[in-house]
Amino acid sequence: MAKEKENELMEKVVSLCKRRGFIFQGSEIYGGLAGTFDYGDLGGELLHNIKNSWWKKFVSSRRDMYGIRAAILMNSKVWEASGHVAGFADPMVECEKCKRRFRADQIEDKEKCAECGGKLGEPKQFNMMFKTQIGAMEDSSATVYLRPETAQGIFSNFKNTVDAYHPKLPFGMAQIGKAFRNEITPRDFIFRCREFEQMEIEYFVREADWQKYFEYFKDQMNEWMEDIGIDMSKVHELEVAPEDLAHYSKRTVDFEFDYPFGKKELFGLAYRGNFDLTNHKLEYVDEEAGEKITPHVIEPSFGVDRAFLALFLSAYNEDTSGEEPRVFLKFKPKMAPILACVSPLLKNKPELVEYAEMKVFTPLKAEFGRIAYDDNGNIGKRYRRQDEIGTPWCIVVDFDTLTDDSVTIRDRDTGTQERVKVSDLSKFIKERLD
Ligand code: GAP
Repeated sequence: MAKEKENELMEKVVSLCKRRGFIFQGSEIYGGLAGTFDYGDLGGELLHNIKNSWWKKFVSSRRDMYGIRAAILMNSKVWEASGHVAGFADPMVECEKCKRRFRADQIEDKEKCAECGGKLGEPKQFNMMFKTQIGAMEDSSATVYLRPETAQGIFSNFKNTVDAYHPKLPFGMAQIGKAFRNEITPRDFIFRCREFEQMEIEYFVREADWQKYFEYFKDQMNEWMEDIGIDMSKVHELEVAPEDLAHYSKRTVDFEFDYPFGKKELFGLAYRGNFDLTNHKLEYVDEEAGEKITPHVIEPSFGVDRAFLALFLSAYNEDTSGEEPRVFLKFKPKMAPILACVSPLLKNKPELVEYAEMKVFTPLKAEFGRIAYDDNGNIGKRYRRQDEIGTPWCIVVDFDTLTDDSVTIRDRDTGTQERVKVSDLSKFIKERLD
């Protein structure tokens, strides 16, 4: 029963995401492309708010961070040096009968195919990097990989950044961008995709300091999750066992989240030692110590799509106390795709429409951007539509507005209404954004 309820919740979330234009299946009009998703207008806004909040906390508000926007296509020597060509692989088994492929470490019955009952072959290592060809030649010298992590775009610009900005240790470099992995079994909506986005920091420290900064970033990661509105009662830290560490990691703590489909990874924090800089033959002149060193690296790594899913699931609420259940997304105002929706009480009263459009909607839209206008159906239906996409406030222009220049603001979470002067609307919103 519990399992059914969990599946039901995931179905509701997937269907809401599609119906209200948050997320669509990639290439849907041609039957889809497994492991790819397209974000619609509202989904795009939420992604934008997640990425902006991350960049502000971890990069632009700090003096020790340097952003980078590296190319996705990189020289394949990068991936040879990073160990990904040799070691970025998952164990895969293939069914001898139906030829379906599965992650060997994720199946319960190691002998029999879960789909057709056929015999499963021996596990093989399957490299997850997507290959493509650059230029007109199609030989192996033209092979390039789509990056499976944004981290290498950072390491390969370490020297450029040091030469350009002369940062003192400790300092960090950060990047937000697409990553690609040919996952054997993409699944659980946007949890495991083949094309996804990462937000990563490589923080360069002296070896002796690594533990201090590991703990520091663990706290910072928790702080950010809480700040954007992820339900912290569903977040758990997992010390990854030595045998499960990625090939570059000396220590990893995974932040896991209680998704409806189980407790699984949300973000990761790794101590990469000086593995990458050593392999790329990069050094740093430590003026303080008067020597050349290879700094060690603490890596907080965040999946944007998983942040989206965890935030969406944390915000999802159903109020069943009324006649019909009311679904509302309890986003913090600063994260909500739409901040407020403006409506005239009746759409066939030109004086209300003109007031709502000219004196309320237009100036708020110019100031905040994320403002909607809705005059369809009755007020109750408009509230429901906004609740479902997580709009914190519905602003209604009624007949009293024409004489008192005040509007009614209805709160998404409590349903309570208050009267506010039109001249105070901008202040009302701004005060609640931080
Ligand atoms: N640079 C380190 C690194 O890439 P990772 O644990 O493989 O480490 C980091 O990935 C984060 O990227 C994960 O914690 C997760 O949030 C996200 N991620 C990884 N694979 C993903 C996938 N197939 N779909 C969506 N997000 C993914």
